[in-house]
Amino acid sequence: MAEQNYLLDNAEQQAPSRFASLEALFDPGTIRNLVATGIGPGWRCWEAGAGGGSVARWMAGQAGPSGYVLATDIDPRRLAEAGLPGVEVRQHDTGRDPAPDGEFDLVHARLVLVHIPHRAEALRQLVGALRPGGWLVLEDFDVRAIGTFAEQRGDEDALLGKVVSAFTDLLVAGGVDGEYGRSLPRLLEESGLIDVHAEGYVPIARGPSAVTDLHLANFVQTRDQLIAANLVTATELDRFTELLHTHRATLNLPMLVSARGRVPGRVTT
Ligand SMILES: C[S@@+](CC[C@H](N)C(=O)[O-])C[C@H]1O[C@@H](n2cnc3c(N)ncnc32)[C@H](O)[C@@H]1O
Repeated sequence: MAEQNYLLDNAEQQAPSRFASLEALFDPGTIRNLVATGIGPGWRCWEAGAGGGSVARWMAGQAGPSGYVLATDIDPRRLAEAGLPGVEVRQHDTGRDPAPDGEFDLVHARLVLVHIPHRAEALRQLVGALRPGGWLVLEDFDVRAIGTFAEQRGDEDALLGKVVSAFTDLLVAGGVDGEYGRSLPRLLEESGLIDVHAEGYVPIARGPSAVTDLHLANFVQTRDQLIAANLVTATELDRFTELLHTHRATLNLPMLVSARGRVPGRVTT
């Protein structure tokens, strides 16, 4: 698998829009999964690949002043901009840099491991950072599970489908595991976690929405790479962008698989 720089770099101007869309689309489900772990006052939490910081902010509210929340990212600039009370922000390459000190009650990463070539080491590090009884909540797209829901009712839908699958091909060529989402329950079990639970969520929208905003942020940022790889033409991308603003197609994102499991042992803090 190709080594790569992260394709959707946080330095680019599309990053805040991407994070706002991810928060709007996925935070409710993420929070439901985190609540299921029993998170509460005094918990030590690690949010890896924290992006814009919305989940770390929520964790700090739950853990309170007696708890501790660490938010790490390979590029933490958007975390620093967000100003997150009660959250320690640190630059950290998950799986490559040494693990943070101490043991955690809860470790969470959303849409991080799917992107990184050393995802097996990253998963080992996240699991290794848990105390006995501690929970890992891991959420990732299954990027190949995107073609299933879009209706094909004409040329415009066909173009949307073509461009969306070109983006998937670009991600996979760059080192993304196209079927990572579906492997999460197995990977958690193979990591020695118990009480493994998993579910999938597919956002579907018609017309301008957080779904189209996320597609736009991704396509604007990767436009040059898509064209250079001969996956789509500039004309197709221009038309695609126009259609996202105007065409009332039914458009979806890949399935986000949310999986959780805990280390055997002590359950209470
Ligand atoms: C798609 S964003 C998801 C952000 C956030 N977790 C969310 O769901 O809203 C991926 C994030 O992972 C970060 N990232 C990429 N590679 C990483 C690595 N090797 N270690 C830590 N963070 C990484 C990126 O900088 C980016 O902030």
